[in-house]
Amino acid sequence: MLREYNTKMLIDKNTREELNRLFYLLKLQDRFANSSLDKQVKIEQIIAYLEIVHAELRNTSRKRKLVFVDCGAGNCYLSFLIYYFYHKIESRELEIHCVDINEKLMQANQKLAQEMNFRDIYFHAMDITEFSIAKKIDMVYSLHACDTATDKTMYLGIKNNVKIILSVSCCQHSISIQPQLLKSMVRYKSFRDKLLMFVADSLRALLLERHNYKVDIFDFVSSRYTEKNTMVRAIKTEFRKQIDEREEYRKLSREFNTKPYLEKLLLEEEPGY
Ligand SMILES: C[S@@+](CC[C@H](N)C(=O)[O-])C[C@H]1O[C@@H](n2cnc3c(N)ncnc32)[C@H](O)[C@@H]1O
Repeated sequence: MLREYNTKMLIDKNTREELNRLFYLLKLQDRFANSSLDKQVKIEQIIAYLEIVHAELRNTSRKRKLVFVDCGAGNCYLSFLIYYFYHKIESRELEIHCVDINEKLMQANQKLAQEMNFRDIYFHAMDITEFSIAKKIDMVYSLHACDTATDKTMYLGIKNNVKIILSVSCCQHSISIQPQLLKSMVRYKSFRDKLLMFVADSLRALLLERHNYKVDIFDFVSSRYTEKNTMVRAIKTEFRKQIDEREEYRKLSREFNTKPYLEKLLLEEEPGY
């Protein structure tokens, strides 16, 4: 057993047991709820992610159908879980659009969704920047979307004025830093990766704040389940800004001599940004 359940958790023990049916259909577990360690780890990640989603949505109006976009969806385990949870357990109207450049994966997901009779989940084999929809989007999210896909997820959210943007980044290949002062620190891979993530996500957070998103950054799941466990949660809302985000962005970007891809995307939209 990897995780203790208690009543404070939004996904309680009974709900967790109901989810076993889905995990069996997704081949993440066998009939007796057993699975390999890597699959258990995936299950823990997606349940923890679902809890963050549900924390934002549980008190919102149930009158309107919700629209979500999963960016860099891959095998769509997270979206299948969110879909199942809201449709089968919460009885809530919801449609999900999964976007991924991998055409074969999207075809396989489409087939699986048909087999499970999941009707309101759609698969788009394309780059995130190509995705558009003539509907109000309630939430965009990504889990371990690689490289610039995290920036593209945030950009999609900002561009469409989406209330909730959730993102857990993966590799940070599009950004590099060579801080002279921290040379002795960044020769350790673990520290280098962490510092890259701190810098990249802090810069992204400042850009999101500039667009009136209140940003929180926290570990969404224990590092036992993944080292890539940092979630950026951005909610479009009115709030008192604590810092001058433009100035802080300039300083941080200059200090580390780097810029996230999100800045480039925003610049293309609004020259002189
Ligand atoms: C590491 S996988 C994560 C998949 C899934 N979200 C998960 O957590 O299991 C990253 C996925 O992002 C997709 N991806 C990367 N860049 C993308 C882009 N620009 N547009 C759409 N999908 C992209 C890849 O094809 C891959 O399936």
